[in-house]
Parts: sequence; C-alpha cells; structure tokens
Amino acid sequence: MKSAEKLIVIVCFLFQGGLCREFSISLPESVEALRGLCVLIPCSFEIEEQYDADLQTVRTGIWFKDEPYNNQVFNSKETKENKIEGEIIGDLHMKNCTTIFYNISESDRGTYYFRIEAPGELKYTYKSSSVDVRVRVSPISPSITLYKEDQGKVEDQNEVVEGTSVSLVCSAPAPPCLLKPTTFTWNFLPEERRQKQNHNTSFSSSQLNFKATHLHHGVDFTCTATYQQNKNKSAQSSLTLHVLYAPRNTSVSVSPSASVPLSSSVSLSCSSDANPAELIYTWYRENGEQIGTGNHLTINMTDSTQSGLYYCRAQNQLGDHNSFVYLDVQYAPRSTSVSASPSASVPLGSSVFLSCSSDANPAVLNYTWYRENREQIGTGKHLTINTTDSTQSGLYYCRAQNQLGDHSSSVYLDVQCESWPCTHTPCASTSVT
Ligand SMILES: *[C@@H]1O[C@H](CO)[C@@H](O)[C@H](O)[C@H]1NC(C)=O
Ligand SMILES: *[C@@H]1O[C@H](CO)[C@@H](O)[C@H](O)[C@H]1NC(C)=O
Ligand SMILES: *[C@@H]1O[C@H](CO)[C@@H](O)[C@H](O)[C@H]1NC(C)=O
Ligand SMILES: *[C@@H]1O[C@H](CO)[C@@H](O)[C@H](O)[C@H]1NC(C)=O
Ligand SMILES: *[C@@H]1O[C@H](CO)[C@@H](O)[C@H](O)[C@H]1NC(C)=O
Ligand SMILES: *[C@@H]1O[C@H](CO)[C@@H](O)[C@H](O)[C@H]1NC(C)=O
Ligand SMILES: *[C@@H]1O[C@H](CO)[C@@H](O)[C@H](O)[C@H]1NC(C)=O
Ligand SMILES: *[C@@H]1O[C@H](CO)[C@@H](O)[C@H](O)[C@H]1NC(C)=O
Repeated sequence: MKSAEKLIVIVCFLFQGGLCREFSISLPESVEALRGLCVLIPCSFEIEEQYDADLQTVRTGIWFKDEPYNNQVFNSKETKENKIEGEIIGDLHMKNCTTIFYNISESDRGTYYFRIEAPGELKYTYKSSSVDVRVRVSPISPSITLYKEDQGKVEDQNEVVEGTSVSLVCSAPAPPCLLKPTTFTWNFLPEERRQKQNHNTSFSSSQLNFKATHLHHGVDFTCTATYQQNKNKSAQSSLTLHVLYAPRNTSVSVSPSASVPLSSSVSLSCSSDANPAELIYTWYRENGEQIGTGNHLTINMTDSTQSGLYYCRAQNQLGDHNSFVYLDVQYAPRSTSVSASPSASVPLGSSVFLSCSSDANPAVLNYTWYRENREQIGTGKHLTINTTDSTQSGLYYCRAQNQLGDHSSSVYLDVQCESWPCTHTPCASTSVT
C-alpha cells in the first residue's frame, strides 16, 4: 500500500470505515486451464457502501472477455446466451465472485473482467483488475508409469522378469476446479494386488502393486481417469506389460502314435510357452542319454528296447521345463516255443500237457493248435492230449497271434506203445485191463 492510501484507510477507520469503501476486486493475475477441463477463478470484490442494499437483492455476476464492456461471455442469470459454460460458486452476497468455467477450449484463453449487477443502481465493471486465463493444450489423459522392485523407474521398456514386484502408477492432473478428486479405474486388476490412491494439490494418482506373472504378459493395462466436474470427463491411457518367464506348459506330441510298430519311425514334437519364446529343446532318455535337439525328433524304431520314456526339455535364459511321452514299440509274436509235460515222449494211454509261449507286444491275443495236416485241434495257451492211439505221434503246432501278425512253433510228440508191435487197436484198453 502506498502511504497515501494507508492514510485514507486509517482515517476511514477512525471515522466511519464503511463510508470510504471503494469498488475494488481481488483476482489472481492468471489461472491455468487444461483444455477440455474446468478452471477455477478465485474472486472477491468490494463495493461502495451506498450500494450495500442493492447487493441484498437479486445479483448477477457477469464476465467479459478481452474487453471490459463489449464481449460478454458469461452471465450468471441469463445462462442461455453464455459463450462459456460456468458457475459462480462464491456467494455474491458475501462479495465472493469465485467462478468455475467448464470445458475450456483454446479460444477461451484471454483476459477476463468481472461485472456485478443488481436491480437498482449497482452496476459496475471492475476494469482496473483482470485475470488472464491461460489454456494448456496438453492432453488431459493420465500417464502410466511402471516401477520395478529395486530397479526404480523404467524409461522405455515395459519389460519385467516374472516374479518381480511392480507398481503401475496412473497419474492425472488435479485442477482445483474439480468437485471431487479424480477417480481411477483399471481395465485389468491382477488377482493379488494392493491398490492405493494419492491426491495432492497438483496430481491425483492410482497405484497398483503386484507381482508380475506370465498371466500379465501382453496385457494392456488401461487406466481411466474420471474428472468429476459438472459433467464428468474421462480420459485414458494404456501400457502393455511384457513379462519374461521361463518355459511352462511344455508338452510332447507324437505322430502318428505313441504305439510304434517295430521298424517304423515316429515323430515327436515339443512345444512350450515361454518369453522369450526362442527356446533350446533337448531330447533325452530315462537314463539321461541325450538323443537329439530341436523341437522335432524322428526316431527309427529298430529294437524293442527302445520302448520307454522320451523327455523333452525346453529352455530359455530364465529356466527350463520338461515333458515326456511313453513310446511303446510293438511287434508281432516272436520266439514262440512249445513245451511238453511231463515229456514229449509219453506212453500210450497217458496224458501230455502242451504249453505254448511267445513274446509279443501287444500281448498274444490267441493261440491256435494244429496238426501237420492243418487240422485245428484246440485254442488257448495250453493243450492237454489224452493219448489213445499211436497215430497221435507227430508234430503239434502252436500259432501265436496278435494284431500285428503271427508266429508258430512246434513239438514232436512221440506216443510210445508198451508192447511191441503196436497195433492200431487202442493200446490203452489193453493196458488198462
Ligand atoms: C469464496 O467462495 C469459494 C467457494 O465457495 C470458497 O472456496 C472461498 O473460500 C470463498 N472466498 C472467500 C474469500 O471467502
Ligand atoms: C466442450 O467444448 C467442445 C468445443 O470446444 C465441444 O465440442 C464439446 O461438445 C464440449 N463438451 C461439453 C461436454 O460441453
Ligand atoms: C504431487 O504428487 C506428484 C506425484 O506423486 C509429485 O510429483 C508432486 O511433487 C506432488 N506435488 C505436491 C505439490 O506435493
Ligand atoms: C461422476 O463420476 C463419479 C465417479 O465415477 C460418479 O460417482 C458420479 O455419479 C459421476 N457424476 C456424474 C454427473 O456423472
Ligand atoms: C497349456 O497349453 C494348452 C494348449 O495351449 C492349454 O489349453 C492349457 O490350458 C495350458 N495349460 C496351462 C496350465 O496353462
Ligand atoms: C531313419 O530312417 C530313415 C530312412 O528310413 C533315415 O533316412 C534316417 O536317417 C533314419 N534316422 C535315424 C535317426 O536313424
Ligand atoms: C485270433 O486273433 C486274430 C486277430 O484278432 C483273429 O483274426 C482270429 O480270428 C483269432 N482267432 C481265433 C481262433 O480266435
Ligand atoms: C482227457 O482225460 C481227462 C481225464 O483223464 C478228461 O478230463 C479230459 O476231458 C480228456 N481230454 C480229452 C481231450 O479227451
């Protein structure tokens, strides 16, 4: 205050203070608005005392832009013609002309003058003081920043190793014109997370804390900030998280089948889910013997000992993961043999027990017994023959069969007579009696 003014104030105070009141207004030099959002203009005014009564009745607050009289942009009573949507939130009766303008556009930037009007004599434009409304054209969309445990802020890359604790912070400007703090919503919430909101005079933010897992790989985290004004306004941003993880869900597929006929070949394919997806594949047997690399392996089944477990190991720089398949080498019956009990030489009239065995995979399905003349005499693994006739001497064949084929073997049965010469009449009846 200049000393002359000070003197007047003191004088007024000493006498009847009110009488000396002048028209004056208190406005900030400038306010900054974000394009598309609201702006708050703190404002209070003073009037000469003679108009105090007018202020008790209906009052109107008016704003002019750029020129103190010509370009009216806002009228608190006649809102229809207003060029700017707004609201005087201060109580004019209390000489508080604090105003919010909504949905500021670039063309709204300029110098604003306030005018008070009331029925009667009170009509005054405060042209001595004005407020400069600046408009920042930067987008009102929030920004998302990724923070990694022990790694601080990550500048360009949104890459994290699985298991790392991360924070995604969505931050939006907090202009003072808002009715309530900005609210945030996320399109994707990790299952295990902590969430918190922060508000200060310049920024509002929402923070998601969680442990990165493969499930978050490639997820677009979209944060929507809702600015709570007369009409809510939303803006959003996204961040795609890239999670590096060791192979998982490894599997081996077999073509054409895990049951492999001997002397045919089989193709194995290994696949696994990992990031990075470039994997080293190694094939090995149960005993640890390495038998190949690459995600495909062809095996020629030349020996039945090749049956067994075949493992595939998928590996990247973060770890490895195995899968396996059981290959079953199949073959037709082989090494068929027939045994006779008690012996292949039996006295006429006794019984002989024939037994057939064979190596086969899958196991022998049926055994068939034949004589030399191809007459079928029985089925099953075992055959009992009651010798009644020396003509029963001869070769007995056993044929073993499975789905892949058959194989036969034979035994020579020698039926011996007790008396010589042996006749065609049943010896048995002679011997029994
Ligand atoms: C004017 O009104 C606004 C809105 O109600 C309030 O925040 C502000 O404190 C008031 N100013 C004064 C000087 O009372
Ligand atoms: C905000 O202003 C822009 C132009 O400045 C207009 O297109 C838009 O419809 C307005 N939005 C609202 C909610 O009034
Ligand atoms: C508000 O919070 C932001 C982000 O958390 C911070 O950068 C800024 O310094 C804070 N401002 C004030 C005034 O506290
Ligand atoms: C604005 O958004 C808030 C929070 O999202 C909601 O509670 C409120 O009802 C909305 N208001 C309007 C006018 O849409
Ligand atoms: C493994 O992968 C298969 C095929 O892609 C999928 O159907 C299955 O759900 C996955 N399993 C797990 C545990 O991720
Ligand atoms: C398997 O057999 C094919 C031809 O039958 C041959 O070209 C290939 O080299 C064999 N593979 C192995 C691993 O022996
Ligand atoms: C034995 O099995 C084979 C293969 O299934 C079949 O063709 C044949 O008829 C069977 N023989 C007997 C006697 O059951
Ligand atoms: C052989 O004799 C036994 C008894 O001695 C009898 O149970 C069996 O049925 C006979 N088998 C044949 C094929 O005649």
